[in-house]
Amino acid sequence: VHVSVSNQAQGPTAASVRQLYDSMAETYDNIDEEAFYANQYRVYRRHLSSHRACLKGRLLDLGCGTGLQTAAVAATAREVVGVDLSPDLLNKAANRCRGLANVELMLADATGLPFADSSFDAVISYGEVLSHVVEYDKPFAEVSRVLKHGGTFIFSVLNKWYFGLVYSPADAGRALVTAGGQWQMWKCEDDRGHPTEMRLRTFTKAEIDALVTRNGFVVYGRQGIHVAPTVFPMGLQRRSVWLDLVFRKLGRLDDLVAQYRPFANWGYTCIYSSRRS
Ligand SMILES: C[S@@+](CC[C@H](N)C(=O)[O-])C[C@H]1O[C@@H](n2cnc3c(N)ncnc32)[C@H](O)[C@@H]1O
Repeated sequence: VHVSVSNQAQGPTAASVRQLYDSMAETYDNIDEEAFYANQYRVYRRHLSSHRACLKGRLLDLGCGTGLQTAAVAATAREVVGVDLSPDLLNKAANRCRGLANVELMLADATGLPFADSSFDAVISYGEVLSHVVEYDKPFAEVSRVLKHGGTFIFSVLNKWYFGLVYSPADAGRALVTAGGQWQMWKCEDDRGHPTEMRLRTFTKAEIDALVTRNGFVVYGRQGIHVAPTVFPMGLQRRSVWLDLVFRKLGRLDDLVAQYRPFANWGYTCIYSSRRS
């Protein structure tokens, strides 16, 4: 998967999201092959380990994919439930979590979770899962319902405003005349190397603030990803191994700056740490 184009797009159906991820299940974990994902998942790992203290008890990994974070949090949580739309990614997660007695994996949609009210101590959702959902209010309402009061909800979404927009005048123009976030189209490849596309929604900080507030959460932290690298056109990183290396180094800069405002809000991605009030 790689970002090469962002363009006008409509949101996807749950069926198309499932089909897309099923079609890339074999290659999904090749994260280290591209600077973009190497940077992103390094930040996720650091973020997860710095939040270990709030990730205890019974945990939900919403949109767990191949279980990268599920397996990581299983070491400290009493119990972890990973849910996802894609059966093929869930199979990969099952392989990864084999032998972890406190992990359960389920096929479920974030817009209607099959869990009792207040049945989780914390919920994590890394990998811009919520940027895949057309009715994005529903997962927030569902997490609010299944999370205990005082519980932690960590999620990442794409930002509407990021440095890279200057390289995409059509997108930037549309962003300027559109209130709120937009659907973008990413060009990617399936397991057989065939071109496919992914539709992802960006959010403004104000939209996220409104969403969390109306669903009973209070944000206490924001961490940007792809802040420094997006000062250069994102497509460049795929041109040569040297440019890939430069982007990996630029990604390291994010480790230093992206937890501070205003940088957190200028990354292509932002991780929000929130608490259920
Ligand atoms: C980029 S992947 C992230 C997976 C994992 N959290 C990670 O960081 O590797 C996005 C995941 O969200 C899942 N997803 C998208 N929409 C969903 C929904 N409505 N309900 C459950 N999972 C969903 C996809 O199937 C996919 O596994």
